[in-house]
Amino acid sequence: MSKPKVFVTREIPEVGLKLVVDNTDAEVWPDLLPPPYEVIKEKIASCDGLLALLTDKIDAPLLDAAPNLKVVSNFAVGFNNIDVAAATARRIRVGNTPGVLTEATSDFAFTLLMGGARRLVEACNYAKAGHWQTWEPQGFLGQDIWGATMGIVGMGRIGYAMAHRAHRGFDMRILYYDVNPSEHAERDFGATRVDMDTLLAEADFVSIHTDLNASTTGLINRDTLAKMKRNAILINSARGPIVDTDALYEALRDGVIAGAAMDVTEPEPLPVEHPLYSLPNCTIAPHIASATYTSRNKMARMAAENLLAGLRGEDLPNQVNPEVG
Ligand code: GLV
Repeated sequence: MSKPKVFVTREIPEVGLKLVVDNTDAEVWPDLLPPPYEVIKEKIASCDGLLALLTDKIDAPLLDAAPNLKVVSNFAVGFNNIDVAAATARRIRVGNTPGVLTEATSDFAFTLLMGGARRLVEACNYAKAGHWQTWEPQGFLGQDIWGATMGIVGMGRIGYAMAHRAHRGFDMRILYYDVNPSEHAERDFGATRVDMDTLLAEADFVSIHTDLNASTTGLINRDTLAKMKRNAILINSARGPIVDTDALYEALRDGVIAGAAMDVTEPEPLPVEHPLYSLPNCTIAPHIASATYTSRNKMARMAAENLLAGLRGEDLPNQVNPEVG
């Protein structure tokens, strides 16, 4: 019997790639950069499955070009790159990789928090550039972390893990904003659910952990930044478009808030000439929060298992549109 045809849009870790290659007739895009949209469209025309990354836009016209497609497996927990409604309408299962990157991502969000609060990157660059002449009584003063107030936007898995670090590790008071209450966070960390204005007014750190959707796009904008404390640090390890990039630039330049530390930007990659890079109080990492060996290996295995289940016509171990069954 011939094997199902699949297109894999990048080389994922071996533990997942081997599962796919051994069990399917797979074409794997070999480049570092994503295949252009038109190339994906052409490649999947005769495919039964697609293993995609968050950098691949999977929309209705693309799905229409693949009449045999049964499954789109995303190598990510976020799936805003996929038009899930369009996939559901075409009875195509969509999978993601939740859970396995929660701790790695919140570890990194906390790294951003600490680096931003204590001006780590700025200070290291200063030393490296030869400016370090003596111990300065007022050099590189930053924000206190221990006992500060943490504002979590989106108390899902990663928000909870961030609150855990903040409360148990650094004795922080936890405020959160979410459409749903989190009994766990309230019970485990004494977290208090507040409206967005209260969170912005009281938090020393505002850390974003919500998904990207119509109501969270531009959630952090000129108005919301103006409501934050002047000593506050904004941390974004979720999705770039949740923060209005131009408004953030102005707020950091004008001292409306003390700093920002971000793993995600809008656009991505942020062009090297973007003025945000010129600000000493802004740290930008190239979307690496889940990049540990363990997490990426688990994501690869999970993405492969989702893909193979979909090809067999079964529910995926992690399916974002369970209504396709
Ligand atoms: C990474 O950003 C992911 O959604 O997995």
